[in-house]
Amino acid sequence: MENLESSDVASDVLVIGSGIAGLSFALKIADFAKVVLITKKEKAESNTNYAQSGIAAVLSHSDSFETHAKDTLDCGDGLSKRDVVKTVVREGPARIQELMELGVKFSQTAAGELDLGIEGGHSKRRVAHAKDLTGKEIEAALLNAVSKAPSIKLIENQIAINLVVNNNRCLGCYALDTENSLVRNYIAKITVLATGGIGRIYLHTTNPEIATGDGIAMAYREGATIMNMEFTQFHPTYLFHPQGKSFLISEALRGEGAVLQDKNGRQFMADYHPMKELAPRDVVARAIDQELKKSGENHVFLDISMKSSNFIRARFPGIHEKCLSFGIDITKNPIPVVPAAHYCCGGVKTTIAGETDIKHLLAIGEVACTGLHGANRLASNSLLEALVCAHYAVKKCRVLLNKKPLPQSFAQWESGNAVDIDEAVVITQNRNEIRHLMWNYVGIVRSNKRLNRAKKRIKLLLDEINQYYWDFIVTADLIELRNMALVAKLIIDSAIIRKESRGIHYSLDYPKKLPIAQDTLLKKKR
Ligand code: FAD
Ligand code: SIN
Repeated sequence: MENLESSDVASDVLVIGSGIAGLSFALKIADFAKVVLITKKEKAESNTNYAQSGIAAVLSHSDSFETHAKDTLDCGDGLSKRDVVKTVVREGPARIQELMELGVKFSQTAAGELDLGIEGGHSKRRVAHAKDLTGKEIEAALLNAVSKAPSIKLIENQIAINLVVNNNRCLGCYALDTENSLVRNYIAKITVLATGGIGRIYLHTTNPEIATGDGIAMAYREGATIMNMEFTQFHPTYLFHPQGKSFLISEALRGEGAVLQDKNGRQFMADYHPMKELAPRDVVARAIDQELKKSGENHVFLDISMKSSNFIRARFPGIHEKCLSFGIDITKNPIPVVPAAHYCCGGVKTTIAGETDIKHLLAIGEVACTGLHGANRLASNSLLEALVCAHYAVKKCRVLLNKKPLPQSFAQWESGNAVDIDEAVVITQNRNEIRHLMWNYVGIVRSNKRLNRAKKRIKLLLDEINQYYWDFIVTADLIELRNMALVAKLIIDSAIIRKESRGIHYSLDYPKKLPIAQDTLLKKKR
C-alpha cells in the first residue's frame, strides 16, 4: 500500500472504486489532472473482474447501430432514454478499440476477426469476449495501464464512509483506512463515485462481496436523486451448489445453444417465449421461478453437453474448470442452476457524463442510472455503458477542473464517545436478515403484501443499525451494513411506488403495464 504520511490526502480528482468505470476514467483524466483512486479491498476485486460473456457493440457488417439501439430499447420496456441509448451504442466500437490498444485480447475467429457472442434480447451476434473471462482480461489491462500512469495514486483498503458536501458542492469524502484503522479526509476538486452495484443485499447473488451499494447510499444521504431502484436484474443461471459461492453460469452458454430443462429433462422455455432460451433475462428468470414453484424443486438444469467437448473447453474454460472442481463435468452433464440477483439498473441519477445533482460529484458505471437500461438491461451493455460514461465524464471534468481551486480541508472525523464494537455477531445477524428479507419479499415476483412486510422490517433494522453506527467506532462491516440497509429501503420504497409490472419489476397486484412509462425518483427530505 502507498505510504501516506498525513491523514489528509488531496488531489484534483478523487475516484472511488477500481472497476472498469473508475479505472478507465482515471486513466483518461490523468493526462491533465492529479488523481487519487481509492478502493475498499484489493484493487482487482470488483464486479468487473467476474464479468464473463463480454461487451456488446456493433462490430460486424451484418449489424447496425439502429439494431443495437432497438434491442436495448425493447429490453428497457419503454423506460430507456432514447438519446442516451443512441450515444452509448454509437460510441461502442471506438471504446472497444481503445481497450484493445491497452492490450485487452478479445477472442478471435480462425480468420482473425473478433469472435462475437450472442445473448438473450440481442438480435445479432455482437458481444466481444475473452473466452468466458472477459472481465478479468479487462481489469488486468486497465490496472496495468494505471500502474504506469505517474499522475494516478491508487490506494487499496480505503473504504469511503461518507461524502462531504457543503452548499451542495462535494469536497471529497471520509474513508476508513482498514490497514491502519484510521479515518482519512480525501479532499478533491471533483469526486467520482465508481463504486459498482448492490448484489450482496440479496441472499443469492452473482456479485462479489464488495457489491454493497455504498455509492448509492452515500449519494442519497447527501441529497442526490436516486432513480429506478426497483429494477434489480436477476440472472437466470447461477450455479446451484453449496460451495459455488456467487458463481455465474454465463448467458453466453445459451447463446451457443445450451438449453434449460427440469429434472426429467423436459425443456420448458418454449412454454414461455418464442425466443426460448434467448428471451430477455427477466422472462427467463421468471420462467425458472415459476417452474420451481410448480415442481417444488430447488433448481433447474442448463445443458450444453450437445456441443463437442473441445468447443466447450475452448470457449468456456473458466466455467468448465469451476464446475469440474465441484464434480460437474459440463461436457457430459447438465449444470444445476437457479436465478440470482445480478445487476442494479437503478442508481444515482446522472447525465451520460456522470453529472449528479450535487456539484462536483460525478457517478459512473453500475452505481449510476443514466437511463440507458430503463426497466431492464440488455445483456453485456453495462461494461459498454461504464466505458462510454467514463469517456464523457472526462470531457466534462476538463471544464470543471479549470473553474475551481482545491477546496479547504474539512473537519477531521469525530468518533465522539464511540467505543469498539462489543458484539460483532449483531452485524452478521442484521446483514443476514437484510439479505433474507430482500430475497423472500423483494425478489423476482413481488406483491403489495410482501413489500409492505419488507418495509416494516427494514425500518426496524435501520433504526437499530443507525443507533449502532453512532455508538461504536466504525469498521468496514458496519459501514457496509448501514449502506446495505439504506439501499434495501430505497429498493423497497421504489417497488412500492411503481403500481405496474414493467421490465424486471413484476407485481402480482399490478400485472399490467401503465400506458405512460415514468421513472421512480427518490430524494432525501431535508
Ligand atoms: P465494479 O466493477 O463493481 O467496481 C466497483 C469498485 O468500487 C470496486 O473496486 C469496489 O471495491 C469499489 N468500492 C465499492 N464501494 C466502495 C467504498 N465504499 N469505498 C471504496 N471503494 C469502494 N456486464 C457486461 O456488460 N458483460 C458481462 O459479461 C457481465 N458479466 C457479469 C458477470 C458477473 C458475475 C457480474 C457480477 C456482473 C457482470 N456484468 C457484466 C456486470 C458488470 O460486470 C458490472 O456492471 C460492471 O463491471 C460494473 O463496473 P463498475 O466499475 O461500475 O463497478
Ligand atoms: C453473463 O455472462 O451471462 C452476464 C452478462 C451480463 O450480465 O451482461
